[in-house]
Amino acid sequence: FEWLDGRPSKQRLLVVANRLPVSAIRKGEDSWQLEVSVGGLVTALLGVKEFEARWIGWAGVNVPDEIGQRALTKALAEKRCIPVFLDEEIVHQYYNGYCNNILWPLFHYLGLPQEDRLATTRSFQSQFDAYKKANQMFADVVNEHYEEGDVVWCHDYHLMFLPKCLKEYNSKMKVGWFLHTPFPSSEIHRTLPSRSDLLRSVLCADLVGFHTYDYARHFVSACTRILGLEGTPEGVEDQGRLTRVAAFPIGIDSDRFIRALEVPQVQEHIKELTERFAGRKVMLGVDRLDMIKGIPQKILAFEKFLEENPSWRDKVVLLQIAVPTRTDVPEYQKLTSQVHEIVGRINGRFGTLTAVPIHHLDRSLDFHALCALYAVTDVALVTSLRDGMNLVSYEFVACQDSKKGVLILSEFAGAAQSLGAGAILVNPWNITEVASSIGQALNMLPEEREKRHRHNFVHVTTHTAQEWAETFVSELNDTVVEAQLRTTQ
Ligand code: ADP
Ligand code: G6P
Repeated sequence: FEWLDGRPSKQRLLVVANRLPVSAIRKGEDSWQLEVSVGGLVTALLGVKEFEARWIGWAGVNVPDEIGQRALTKALAEKRCIPVFLDEEIVHQYYNGYCNNILWPLFHYLGLPQEDRLATTRSFQSQFDAYKKANQMFADVVNEHYEEGDVVWCHDYHLMFLPKCLKEYNSKMKVGWFLHTPFPSSEIHRTLPSRSDLLRSVLCADLVGFHTYDYARHFVSACTRILGLEGTPEGVEDQGRLTRVAAFPIGIDSDRFIRALEVPQVQEHIKELTERFAGRKVMLGVDRLDMIKGIPQKILAFEKFLEENPSWRDKVVLLQIAVPTRTDVPEYQKLTSQVHEIVGRINGRFGTLTAVPIHHLDRSLDFHALCALYAVTDVALVTSLRDGMNLVSYEFVACQDSKKGVLILSEFAGAAQSLGAGAILVNPWNITEVASSIGQALNMLPEEREKRHRHNFVHVTTHTAQEWAETFVSELNDTVVEAQLRTTQ
């Protein structure tokens, strides 16, 4: 929570994201409990400390009454957070509908949900209207708290319409927009009925950032092919106005993980886990229970490995910690039952009276428990079908400096570009390949593990969340100054 405690300022930063770093649970008419939200965006931004920052977003709860809203606003103010209140209908259409049922699967190359594709197509316009309305509500709150000189940093696919709304309020506002998911090939983006509106709005920002160069390139291609604008090495140009587009790969607050391993409670936990799984190699998956994470594919690959390697059956265990997410979206509900069904079947097939091969937990772990698990793991399995970056892979590496375990990593995660040389890269759709990589990882010699780990550890500890934010904000400041110079020349 350091981010939220306040520090001496360098620059005022308004971070705007759909999800606040804390989610609220109502305890009474005017009392609220706050819990840290789970997700990559929150993890990265909590690692950003050198700004006087305020966070504007949704607290994940419907608060229809004024007493509740006032009390929650006060509780959040202590954490330097400012709420945007969204009613149930807006959440249904904007968050569950347009964001998580349309943009999220499309940006991850998964297409619209198979079963209700026609229904989704029909409700498209009303959901997009709700999306624009929600973005305008975020803009209203930003405008209310904005002071001259502030940097306004908008995040993610929920808020693609925000840069336009903000510039309509004040064309001089310094606005950056960063996408935490992949930006897909322009051939995918052009299937969206609202394709042009979204691109035009994002282009209202002064600086547009992505995790990888490929995502940035796809965005520029979408602007040239769909809008007919000019792409330059700097970004996209429209009638003399340049929007800077660049890659800013995110990182984590690696020191926080490394320090946590020294905490007595974590050491105790490490000891317990080591005793509990003595004689067995530990494989770990930590994911939000999301269709992009390739959890069923990962478990099927593990089954194949056990099938083909009977000698490993009582010597390895897979711990899959999958926190439920976006549970009101039908596609996510289906995934939960599918994963439960597969895990049950495999445990029935390979389990004994005293041990099962897969421990599947449907919940989130607190930070210390998570660090202990990362530290005792021999092989981490990250099999995302697509993933903007994937910070779980970074967190695992940060906690592995004693054990030097192996990371099996999807080639479709942004992290493959930074940790690829140290990890075993796999195509998560190819279960046979993943199963054989599991064998390779479990049998890897210590010198090879050491070499691979060293490469990744250096990367994770030098490219931190702090460095990411500083680079983005400083580039945004420079971009605005350059644009001013261009207009005065
Ligand atoms: P995404 O951005 O899709 O959520 P990332 O891998 O980038 O994926 O980030 C996920 C973040 O959420 C990480 O910081 C990870 O520690 C946290 N997380 C994911 N699953 C769990 C879980 N079951 N318990 C606790 N934290 C989790
Ligand atoms: C990903 C998205 C974030 C989102 C997080 C958790 O990391 O990029 O914007 O906050 O998933 O999802 P949720 O829908 O619970 O906010």
